[in-house]
Amino acid sequence: MSETVDAPIGIFDSGFGGLTVASAIVDQLPGEDIIYLGDTARSPYGPRSIAEVRRFALACLDTLMEMGVKALVIACNTASAAVLADARERYHVPLTEVIMPAARRAVRVSRTGRVAVACTSATAVSGVYDDAIGAAMGVELTTVVCPRFVEFVEKGITGGDELLAVAEEYLAPVIRSRADTLILGCTHYPLLSGVISYVLGPDVTLVSSAEECANATYATLTRAGWVNPSGQGCRRFLTTGNPDRFAQIGSRLLGKFGNHAEPLKNLSYGQVMVSV
Ligand code: DGL
Repeated sequence: MSETVDAPIGIFDSGFGGLTVASAIVDQLPGEDIIYLGDTARSPYGPRSIAEVRRFALACLDTLMEMGVKALVIACNTASAAVLADARERYHVPLTEVIMPAARRAVRVSRTGRVAVACTSATAVSGVYDDAIGAAMGVELTTVVCPRFVEFVEKGITGGDELLAVAEEYLAPVIRSRADTLILGCTHYPLLSGVISYVLGPDVTLVSSAEECANATYATLTRAGWVNPSGQGCRRFLTTGNPDRFAQIGSRLLGKFGNHAEPLKNLSYGQVMVSV
């Protein structure tokens, strides 16, 4: 752990989706240095087993810790679902994630107690949102798995007939459930909030896990006394995959940071010891 407030915040996602979180954090904490790590060589995480996601995620978080970050942000619902308990034990730095902040907000904003979550298959299988929402009395949760949403985002597609047809199919159970609140339970999905809102209509409130995670990160750093009041806001973007592709696909969000990504070498996924 770095002992200085001017050390960077480490932000991790399977790929590009966490850029929605990074963007919200930069808006709220513009003076902070950040190191963003996208494990694009292994994404998507959504169709993988929880054990596999845990192994990949811990390797990435270990790497960020070795780089001297003062705090960790798990900017991926799937990775949060797989690794949160291990990460809290393993890393002694302020740590925020996307699931609890979004679940709390959804419970607060829902007027009817009918809440839905759209997420990846691994997140749904983990039952993490059922646990998070289940703690609230009188709230009924509908879960929809939307695997192709990640595929569209990774191709940079956020509109068009094909996406609309897929969104209508995925979101039909949300409409049937009469939920008044939908958690975007994958950090890629805020990039599709246009089509999601269009399909669900104006009476359904969308809760972005990205925005809520940024709020939680602000609060956690403030409580810990780790906010950097006079930083320069230096940002590095690392990818385990192809940096040019990362910069190209991530440009909608990365553009605001200068549109450049660096390759991350020597990340060993095999050596992570996982506590179970
Ligand atoms: N962005 C990740 C999440 O929040 C999922 C994307 C993936 O499947 O890798 O769940």
